Amino acid sequence: MKWMDGARLPWNNLIADNGKSKQASGGVVSGPNWKNRTLFHGDNLGFLRAMNSESVDLIATDPPFNKGRDFHATPDSLAAGAKFQDRWSWEKDVHEDWIDQIRDDHPKLMEVVESARLAHSDGMGAFLCFMAVRLLAMRRVLKSTGSIYLHCDPTASHYLKAVMDAVFGWRNFRNEIIWCYKSGGASPKRHFGKKHDIILWYSKTKDYVFNSQQEKSYNRGLKPYRFKGVAEHQDEIGWHTLVGMKDYWQIDMVGRTSGERLGYPTQKPLALYERIVKASSNEGDIVLDPFAGCATTSVAAERLNRQWVGIDIWDKAHETVIRRLSKEGLAMPDGSIGEAIPFFGDIHYSKEPPERTDDGETAAPFLRVRERVKEPEGPKWSRREMYEHLVEQNGSRCMGCDRTFDDPRYLELDHNVPRADGGINHVTNRILLCSPCNRAKSNIYTLSGLRRLNKREGWMAK
Ligand SMILES: C[S@@+](CC[C@H](N)C(=O)[O-])C[C@H]1O[C@@H](n2cnc3c(N)ncnc32)[C@H](O)[C@@H]1O
Ligand SMILES: [Zn+2]
Repeated sequence: MKWMDGARLPWNNLIADNGKSKQASGGVVSGPNWKNRTLFHGDNLGFLRAMNSESVDLIATDPPFNKGRDFHATPDSLAAGAKFQDRWSWEKDVHEDWIDQIRDDHPKLMEVVESARLAHSDGMGAFLCFMAVRLLAMRRVLKSTGSIYLHCDPTASHYLKAVMDAVFGWRNFRNEIIWCYKSGGASPKRHFGKKHDIILWYSKTKDYVFNSQQEKSYNRGLKPYRFKGVAEHQDEIGWHTLVGMKDYWQIDMVGRTSGERLGYPTQKPLALYERIVKASSNEGDIVLDPFAGCATTSVAAERLNRQWVGIDIWDKAHETVIRRLSKEGLAMPDGSIGEAIPFFGDIHYSKEPPERTDDGETAAPFLRVRERVKEPEGPKWSRREMYEHLVEQNGSRCMGCDRTFDDPRYLELDHNVPRADGGINHVTNRILLCSPCNRAKSNIYTLSGLRRLNKREGWMAK
């Protein structure tokens, strides 16, 4: 089948379920609250937080690596002017609300970030904070059968793996894939050539999609296998068998003269992302790349008849993606020229985050703030000031179960509406909870829900 036939498959013409269709019961059905082939432009955090829970089948993404240098595209290329910050400062880049969210809602994750900050640098800590809040949002938007592939290089992959363990759970770690490539450059005198990246694959739960893949295995010396019937396949290299694919992948980089090349400094080969999309999604599934670059993930998804959505902060991304996809539309995989199907006309582009439509879903809180509420003006209160204010107002009482504690250390400062759902840091959105209540609330999301649970379970007077 020609891959472009996908343009005529039914799901490609449907506006992906916008999540507003009502069930017979009158409940709101969740699902994607954006259209297939959408490119969002801006910082991915706001967009990720605005996407419905459990609406995506696969995330394959390649964030900036914290290499401590800036990348620039070749000036005359399609991606001219592309540049993104790849250097991080704890003071300038880490937003206070990221720390609050991580510290309040995911204390173990904060420990991981802090230990990397100590072991490596403030810059690494800042990069991991940036990633941590985004990975939390990515986990929320993944379906329970979904997977995430996080592309890293050896500078940060070991810290990112610990962050992923804290966010997705070490039990959901599936593979560390080594992508090995050949590339030019002088031979290093003081170390071995650095020619691989690392891709961390985590699933959301143990019930994940996996289409097992095969690769060729050649006999030594590439001679035919000795026993008749063992190696049934032959290609220009020699006789081989097909075996289950291993976790190290030899795939060429996008070379200087490659037709794929757009001049974008960190462009990844299509073959690499096609392999990921094939293995961890099915036709019609939704693939997200929140650090889309020149949309390698989207092109792979498009070729394999998946739906896609991409996010990038770089202002040329839209143009580059359209040009790339239209170029794609003219070339068949076998190199012949096909009819141009102008599906690129269907790309949706938006600078505005979508509105959440997944009320009532367990993965999302019901106390939703549709519009971003601005923090009130005035001096920022420290955590201590907010704590003392709340004790002054309510006594040293847990607002979840009404128990009072003589020792204020038993009470923890939490958000009422979680940060991830637009809750502000201000004291008006802060509550004091004992630690069992704080733990229970992270699954329940609302104070009223927590109080109902406590009553039902007999943990507080009715
Ligand atoms: C390593 S590149 C991705 C390259 C991509 N895999 C490709 O093949 O073209 C990382 C991308 O993340 C984008 N980016 C960095 N910070 C971002 C943010 N906060 N929100 C959205 N995109 C961001 C950059 O603009 C850059 O395009
Ligand atoms: Zn309590």
